[in-house]
Amino acid sequence: MSTYPRIKTIGETDWFVHDRFGMFIHFGLYALPARHEWIKEREKISEEKYQKYFDHFNPDLMDARDWARQAKAAGMKYAVLTAKHHEGFCLFDSQYTDYKSTNTPCGRDLVREFVDAFRAEGLKVGFYYSLIDWHHPDFPIDRKHPRRLDPDAEAQDKGRDMKKYAEYMRNQVTELLTNYGKIDILWFDFSYPAGTGGGDVFDWMQYGGGKGPEQWEADKMLALIRKLQPHIILNDRLGIPQDLVTPEQSNYNLFKIPQDENGNYVTWETCQTFSGSWGYFRDEESWKTPKMLIDMLIRSVARGGNLIMNVGPTSRGYFDSRAEDALKVYGDWIKYNGRSIYGCTMAEDSFEVPPGVELTQSEDGTRLYIHLLDFPFHRLVVKGLEDRIDYMQLLSDGSEIYQYETRYPHGPDGAPMDPQFTIFMPGSVFHTVDPVIEVFLKPKN
Ligand code: GLC
Repeated sequence: MSTYPRIKTIGETDWFVHDRFGMFIHFGLYALPARHEWIKEREKISEEKYQKYFDHFNPDLMDARDWARQAKAAGMKYAVLTAKHHEGFCLFDSQYTDYKSTNTPCGRDLVREFVDAFRAEGLKVGFYYSLIDWHHPDFPIDRKHPRRLDPDAEAQDKGRDMKKYAEYMRNQVTELLTNYGKIDILWFDFSYPAGTGGGDVFDWMQYGGGKGPEQWEADKMLALIRKLQPHIILNDRLGIPQDLVTPEQSNYNLFKIPQDENGNYVTWETCQTFSGSWGYFRDEESWKTPKMLIDMLIRSVARGGNLIMNVGPTSRGYFDSRAEDALKVYGDWIKYNGRSIYGCTMAEDSFEVPPGVELTQSEDGTRLYIHLLDFPFHRLVVKGLEDRIDYMQLLSDGSEIYQYETRYPHGPDGAPMDPQFTIFMPGSVFHTVDPVIEVFLKPKN
């Protein structure tokens, strides 16, 4: 019996919660300016000026097989590629737009290359599809649109027809879900209905300057997707709860385990970046340390969730050395510690650990993993474990870990402590990132 009973949804999520770790790939025209994927909005770049990125889009060094090999080596089991991001540019050969990779110097259907390469490495594949579209002429100008502050913004908005745009999205989603075989995940982005804050709102804006499920015609979209690929995992950003909840770029999931409105555990995945932005950002300095990267993975699984970690390839189509190094950090750690991640979830609540220690447990309940995020020197106390240990080892090398009862003469207040059940810490791992102790458990009485 799982310690994390998830509520059942339509999509197939069992493989997903087993696999725990995926790769997000944000690739588009924004890789050329290389200063954030929201650049068109942030700098209010006109269509005309943005065109130079389209004219020069040429990822000549992109080899999707290399991407897939690196994802696999990092321990990732699935990948999600931006088929279209907010700028509206498509990485696939859609018949409903000219704004696509096949019409640039690149001349290739990159979505096709992605699915072929990742499947060949045995990874599951998914598409990110932006609901927002800053290029489509029928997408009404709203509070997040790059044109909203133009002096003639209101005039530019005249005649834009959301219904036509919603139909365009259904047509493209149909292409994506019929031309590329079995797709495991569809990741929409995102809803911001009127009144939910952020951006500049003006009276002339349609739908109060926001957009949500009604404008996306989410009901029709959902029916279409479930008809084309019923098993697919769908995220929640159409604005209607589906299979997957997607807390983004914050440690919010560390405080609160996502739940549905009735308090049930849900299938969730936190999406995170190596350095802050999703698209390739050349001069960004906020690259996370190896320890931060590993901590994020452990903390997600310890709360019953998945982690999807993002790479933003350079405009020439390769992962730069900082991204490669970060992926290698995962690969090196997971090679020895993967057993504490795959097929694992939140541990039974009868165990109690000090701060800086996280627990994961195998779905069948037979193995407990003690993750030492802060290394507690000589001795570690885990309450509730006293009668449950069958055997215990350091996961990385399978060497035995001792346990004993100690009467520690110097307690926190200077006085002798009551007898404590203690795990003896192996000094040899002092300098490794996040060592893990594997406990084979005796069944609960
Ligand atoms: C956000 C951003 C976007 C990114 C996404 C990933 O909603 O708009 O740039 O693609 O999150 O979750």
